[in-house]
Amino acid sequence: MRQLGIVDPELGAILDREAARQELTLELIASESFVPPAIMEVQGSLLTNKYAEGYPGQRYHGGCQFIDALESLAIGRAMALFGAEHANVQPHSGVNANLAVYQAVLQPGDTILAMDLKHGGHLSHGSKASLTGRVYRGVHYGVRPDTERVDLDQVRALAREHRPRLLVTGASAYPRILDYPAFREIADEVGALLLTDMAHIAGLVAAGVLPSPVPHCHFVTSTTTKTLRGARGGFILCREEFAPAVDKAIFPGTQGGPILQNVAAKALTFKLAGTESFARYARNTVANAAALARNLTDRGYRIVSGGTDNHLLLVDLRPKGLTGDVAERALESVDIMVNKNLIPFDPEKPTVTSGIRIGLGALTTRGFGEKDMPVLGELLDRALQGRGDEKVLKDVKGQVLDLCLAHPLYCRFGEGDGLLD
Ligand SMILES: Cc1ncc(COP(=O)(O)O)c(C=O)c1O
Repeated sequence: MRQLGIVDPELGAILDREAARQELTLELIASESFVPPAIMEVQGSLLTNKYAEGYPGQRYHGGCQFIDALESLAIGRAMALFGAEHANVQPHSGVNANLAVYQAVLQPGDTILAMDLKHGGHLSHGSKASLTGRVYRGVHYGVRPDTERVDLDQVRALAREHRPRLLVTGASAYPRILDYPAFREIADEVGALLLTDMAHIAGLVAAGVLPSPVPHCHFVTSTTTKTLRGARGGFILCREEFAPAVDKAIFPGTQGGPILQNVAAKALTFKLAGTESFARYARNTVANAAALARNLTDRGYRIVSGGTDNHLLLVDLRPKGLTGDVAERALESVDIMVNKNLIPFDPEKPTVTSGIRIGLGALTTRGFGEKDMPVLGELLDRALQGRGDEKVLKDVKGQVLDLCLAHPLYCRFGEGDGLLD
């Protein structure tokens, strides 16, 4: 940052302002997390200078002996952390990881059966708005209207009808445990391969807080961000028999050279995710999400599916006469960050929505615990109910600032270093 301030003060000032924003706002966006400074150190390292197309021992560039060591370290750690037979740590992102699995096992026009975007699925699971829904034929299942949990009867019926080559599970906005053995049974019945995209919950799986999809799936994809709290990027786990196809699908299939500073940061991410302090963070994240869900229920909000098993909750705002876009803006005005989100069977458009999605990973990293959830619930409620009332909003914003200062992130203002362990 010191160099940047001299070389490009304009850009440096923007980064300084973003640093202050992260420090002085409450982050409740479920796909965000705060990485330890050592991860940023690796991602900002001289590894950015190196090219290394290919894989350890089989490169298309010279001078890769140390790069081979670091990629092998990342692969070994990913396999050990998740108990996988093979890992590819080169995907630049979660979407790239999914694209590569599709490229490895599908032909254009093949059918993917995956969770509906409107019920919590992801764009890269065959949505028409994504390349994945144009190259492949996306068929989508959803949740049951009564329980708001995945409708396995519908999954089975659609699988029998459409005979997908790939059955996909995993989501961006689904608060409940997925039944991987049941998905595998359905996949086997119709001769499909099973992919779980665990991007949101990978950290909770690594810590053993949620069941692992790995033993039940042919492929597991993920980001290293979100609850895994690490490097920007993605990775793929798969059965040994699919390793050559997956590796070829990443390079040369869908990517060029790996982003080596990210590959190294993934190695560190996997190491940190195996520690007891990470397991504590994962347990606390889930406990915090459950506690906030209870508190908001007591305040008259409806929590989709009645609660949560993981790091996130979906809040149906209709009982309060609010929409997601209004709520997102009201909360942002008091420095609380959430995102508007469709809820299952939402009557509103995706740009409006009836809900917000709240994730507890980032605040848990800042040291927020169960005892803080009633305070958080109260601030959320006061900002939402008091929107338009300058006095209430000013008061809430002041309390948000006090909470941020009491839970320092990277800077302990006036007291030396921040807290991340
Ligand atoms: C389930 C799921 N898969 C994939 C992705 C995409 O990850 P990326 O933004 O790294 O491409 C996301 C991101 O939100 C996600 O929630």
